[in-house]
Amino acid sequence: MQLIDGKSLAQQTQAQVAKEVELLKQTRNIVPGLAVILIGDDPASHAYVKMKAKACEKVGFYAITHSMPETISQEEIIATIEMINDNPRIDGILVQLPLPSHIDTDKIIEVIDPKKDVDGFHPYNVGRLVTKLDCFVPCTPLGVMKMFEKYEIDLQGKDVCIVGASNIVGKPMASLLLNADATVTVTHIHTKDLAAHTRSADIVIVGVGKPNLITKEMVKEGAVVIDIGINRLDDGKLVGDVDFDSVQEQCSFITPVPGGAGPMTIAMLLENTLKAAKSREIL
Ligand code: GUN
Repeated sequence: MQLIDGKSLAQQTQAQVAKEVELLKQTRNIVPGLAVILIGDDPASHAYVKMKAKACEKVGFYAITHSMPETISQEEIIATIEMINDNPRIDGILVQLPLPSHIDTDKIIEVIDPKKDVDGFHPYNVGRLVTKLDCFVPCTPLGVMKMFEKYEIDLQGKDVCIVGASNIVGKPMASLLLNADATVTVTHIHTKDLAAHTRSADIVIVGVGKPNLITKEMVKEGAVVIDIGINRLDDGKLVGDVDFDSVQEQCSFITPVPGGAGPMTIAMLLENTLKAAKSREIL
């Protein structure tokens, strides 16, 4: 079994981004800018945004966080996004999800300028991803693809089982894998026999937020297991969705939690923001 070291790969990516930022500053006088919108008091969202802002600072980006109260109106959020759309110093806009229940998330995402949509959630980018056109790709699935590339895990013709069909992870992951010629099954909460699907897969990718959902019996010998889950147990321990200790004996490659897919998500946000900055129009 080989451990997929997402932390180390993310550090390498960050170093590369930092180099390119320096070059952009010197050659075009561009400092990549990211605006993060954070609404409400969800501790996990606050923790993620803090990590993202810190990573931006480290690579030399200009980063601002717009923190708004839980009670903010949809109109006020939209007005803020429209203002950022027009700000020439900002290349990327990220609205941290989930949003409070009185806010229509789809409407908010559609207000983001697709050229600044570094999360790749706008329907313009979603459509371009499905049709295999250049676009912003959601950070978590993009990070998983980078791990496959780095560890030379071949995807062509492989049976891949994705557990979880969210717009953030499962669906874009399926598009990327299909574009890479894999055979993709997407399972979800209504799937009748989850184990039957995971057991026949060469690669299992899971991100649903349920500790120990994937057990040894559900994984084929020699499979690749990618764990995107992040769960905080009552004792404070951070675990994924895979029963790591037993599953690791069964597979060829596995990602740890923490230190696997998580750090790669942030690294891909940096790459996407850099990409947006590079395509800044010359005024
Ligand atoms: N919430 C959970 N994951 C993500 C993500 O990748 N981007 C944003 N904006 N919100 C999230």
